[in-house]
Amino acid sequence: MVMIAVPVRILSLLLAPLLLGSAGGLLNVTKRTFEIDYQKDCFLKDGKPFRYISGSIHYFRVPRFYWKDRLLKMRMAGLNAIQTYVPWNFHEPQPGQYRFSEDHDVEYFIRLAHELGLLVILRPGPYICAEWDMGGLPAWLLEKESIVLRSSDPDYLAAVDKWLGVLLPKMRPLLYQNGGPIITVQVENEYGSYFACDFNYMRFLQKRFRHHLGDNVLLFTTDGAQKSYLKCGTLQGLYATVDFGTGRNVTADFQTQRKVEPNGPLVNSEFYTGWLDHWGQPHSTVKTEVLASSLYEILARGASVNLYMFIGGTNFAYWNGANTPYAPQPTSYDYDAPLSEAGDLTEKYFVLRKVIQMFEEVPEGPIPPSTPKFAYGKVPLKKLKTVEAALDILCPGGPIKSLYPLTFIQVKQYFGFVLYRTTLPQDCSNSTSLHAPLSGVHDRAYVSVNGVPQGILERASVTPLNITGKAGATLDLLVENMGRVNYGRYINDSKGLVSNLTLGSSILTNWTIFPLGTEDAVRSHLQGWGGQDAGCHNENCTDSSSNYTLPAFYVGNFSIPSGIPDLPQDTFIQFSGWTKGQVWINGFNLGRYWPAQGPQMTLFVPRHILTTSAPNNITVLELERAPCSSCGPGLCTVELVDTPVINRPVANNYFLELPTKDSWQDYE
Ligand SMILES: *[C@@H]1O[C@H](CO)[C@@H](O)[C@H](O)[C@H]1NC(C)=O
Ligand SMILES: *[C@@H]1O[C@H](CO)[C@@H](O)[C@H](O)[C@H]1NC(C)=O
Ligand SMILES: *[C@@H]1O[C@H](CO)[C@@H](O)[C@H](O)[C@H]1NC(C)=O
Ligand SMILES: *[C@@H]1O[C@H](CO)[C@@H](O)[C@H](O)[C@H]1NC(C)=O
Ligand SMILES: *[C@@H]1O[C@H](CO)[C@@H](O)[C@H](O)[C@H]1NC(C)=O
Ligand SMILES: *[C@@H]1O[C@H](CO)[C@@H](O)[C@H](O)[C@H]1NC(C)=O
Ligand SMILES: *[C@@H]1O[C@H](CO)[C@@H](O)[C@H](O)[C@H]1NC(C)=O
Ligand SMILES: *[C@@H]1O[C@H](CO)[C@@H](O)[C@H](O)[C@H]1NC(C)=O
Ligand SMILES: *[C@@H]1O[C@H](CO)[C@@H](O)[C@H](O)[C@H]1NC(C)=O
Ligand SMILES: *[C@@H]1O[C@H](CO)[C@@H](O)[C@H](O)[C@H]1NC(C)=O
Ligand SMILES: *[C@@H]1O[C@H](CO)[C@@H](O)[C@H](O)[C@H]1NC(C)=O
Repeated sequence: MVMIAVPVRILSLLLAPLLLGSAGGLLNVTKRTFEIDYQKDCFLKDGKPFRYISGSIHYFRVPRFYWKDRLLKMRMAGLNAIQTYVPWNFHEPQPGQYRFSEDHDVEYFIRLAHELGLLVILRPGPYICAEWDMGGLPAWLLEKESIVLRSSDPDYLAAVDKWLGVLLPKMRPLLYQNGGPIITVQVENEYGSYFACDFNYMRFLQKRFRHHLGDNVLLFTTDGAQKSYLKCGTLQGLYATVDFGTGRNVTADFQTQRKVEPNGPLVNSEFYTGWLDHWGQPHSTVKTEVLASSLYEILARGASVNLYMFIGGTNFAYWNGANTPYAPQPTSYDYDAPLSEAGDLTEKYFVLRKVIQMFEEVPEGPIPPSTPKFAYGKVPLKKLKTVEAALDILCPGGPIKSLYPLTFIQVKQYFGFVLYRTTLPQDCSNSTSLHAPLSGVHDRAYVSVNGVPQGILERASVTPLNITGKAGATLDLLVENMGRVNYGRYINDSKGLVSNLTLGSSILTNWTIFPLGTEDAVRSHLQGWGGQDAGCHNENCTDSSSNYTLPAFYVGNFSIPSGIPDLPQDTFIQFSGWTKGQVWINGFNLGRYWPAQGPQMTLFVPRHILTTSAPNNITVLELERAPCSSCGPGLCTVELVDTPVINRPVANNYFLELPTKDSWQDYE
């Protein structure tokens, strides 16, 4: 355990008997109220004027191990509230199958905030955007191909109703008036930016929220501070708030809120401390001075505010979202926030704390320090198996046969990878073009013929791939889901081969489709040295004229040095010379790496996944080319370093035509 200096004031809160969970007895619930005073234009907490200064933290982007540390740092910054989304897809991975334990234990997270003296603003969606896969909606909703998400589509409403019937009853005892910390609950998210503009859908949500949470809870909406957004995003009975970042006219933006809410508190529900990133675009930042002066302006007006994000955290595993035209977000969700991805205190943190101190009492120090980081050094990795050689492990249930390609949804695989296999119907001795019309590869296909890598088909590009091979040769496409679109009309983002594939002028048929269960495979068989060198004897090696090798697993391990106190500590894994892939440590899926693209060059490795009692296994799935890809016994290395790099300069030309930050003011 890292020692965290707990300030006395907070400690007394921790030791105070908790209202929460005490079975009625001591609790006089009728005294706890949270409402709006339309005369004084403010919130009323227990009958007294109140304004919140809140920060966003997503429990699903921070390991549970670190929840307390991050929340405490937020409290010490002077925040009196936190704001979090609840991602439906994180909690209901398969229809009717729910996850609420460990890193998914949202109730525990909310109780922890309560113990630390923080109120909670809850944003349960069901749509959340958040640069999260499909904006938090479960991919299995797409089993109905014609479904209109975020509308009164009856199948969508039925699934939403069922989900809210599971989630909201868990939240009810955590409401402020019931003794918990939740003061307000947001309905939907920036619904006014969505094309559907379906008031019946919003009315349906309002009714269900009221049914499950009661009449006393303060429900609200959030939309971009523009008349056009507020038109479809607001509803009578839901208090309308706005969101905007720095560099905006605060007066004008709050006047926009006033057009819908002539009285009541001014609220900016998402005041952007930084901004999101995409692979292939420069890392986004917001200057501290600009942020500080905007925050001052908002607070001086007596408004309530939520800083989005106060800590961004990490898109572990496959959870990142994407924007359109298709551009996925990287693994880091650092967001240039006041607490870094790894929870470190930044200059921005201290400057914002000073601004808050001008308006509200801020708990006195000491502030929990940044956690120490350790450079464990270089770790040799060895090629274990290609994906093709590991199909029995990756797809124990065996493949699915289909005349035409099936999508991920159709084979009930929601994340990661699916391998599509067929045979060449004709000789392709002179380079025949393999083509997916209408960007039908979602999102990236690693193509090989008889084990010889041919190249990549990409969603964002319509360029066909020329392949060579004899009639009857095996054609494999390993298709990667790089994250579903989380914003706009096209959040119904199917993955896999979503159109037919043509070779020359004929449509390829008779597919054998392997859904790949990477997580189980890595945990059970694809980690550890394995005792033998799989080397090159099972497949064709790269010749130096190609940039590609077959997608393959590489493994290695490292031990935590003894004799150094307080190890293991957090670290960052760096992929010099590697191209693109996925990485696990001890079976924990850390996310995607793509140094060939940038701007993110290292991945955050939280220390709770490391062990001192045995070597720590690293498993890498490299999709394009490892530094040791040529034939021979060469070892590749990754390096564990103590400093993150998420801002390498990038050419800014990979994903073209993306909107810039300025045109996306009201995006989240
Ligand atoms: C709880 O508060 C109500 C209203 O203020 C009051 O009438 C009641 O006596 C209180 N009950 C207890 C047990 O304190
Ligand atoms: C900000 O907006 C207000 C209200 O529309 C306007 O009066 C003021 O001139 C604007 N300020 C600037 C600096 O543009
Ligand atoms: C392939 O190319 C060679 C030389 O470029 C040519 O002689 C041959 O006819 C071509 N074959 C086919 C099937 O197009
Ligand atoms: C290696 O590539 C050749 C063609 O270049 C092919 O005939 C052979 O089957 C491949 N070997 C394996 C094991 O895939
Ligand atoms: C593919 O082959 C065609 C003709 O066979 C050629 O015109 C085209 O440039 C090739 N494309 C690539 C990407 O090599
Ligand atoms: C996705 O949804 C949009 C909006 O309803 C619709 O226009 C589009 O056709 C859908 N796309 C697919 C592939 O179903
Ligand atoms: C593939 O082509 C066949 C025959 O034209 C068609 O029936 C089928 O719907 C197509 N599949 C996709 C995914 O486009
Ligand atoms: C596809 O499979 C069917 C049934 O096995 C067979 O009749 C047909 O010839 C195959 N088509 C191709 C292009 O191989
Ligand atoms: C590393 O992998 C080996 C071989 O699979 C396994 O025995 C060991 O338990 C793993 N170590 C950890 C820390 O998971
Ligand atoms: C760890 O790596 C070493 C080589 O560095 C290897 O000899 C050993 O077998 C590996 N241990 C495990 C558990 O994989
Ligand atoms: C390999 O990649 C590099 C850098 O992206 C590029 O310049 C080069 O042309 C590629 N080589 C081949 C054979 O595709």
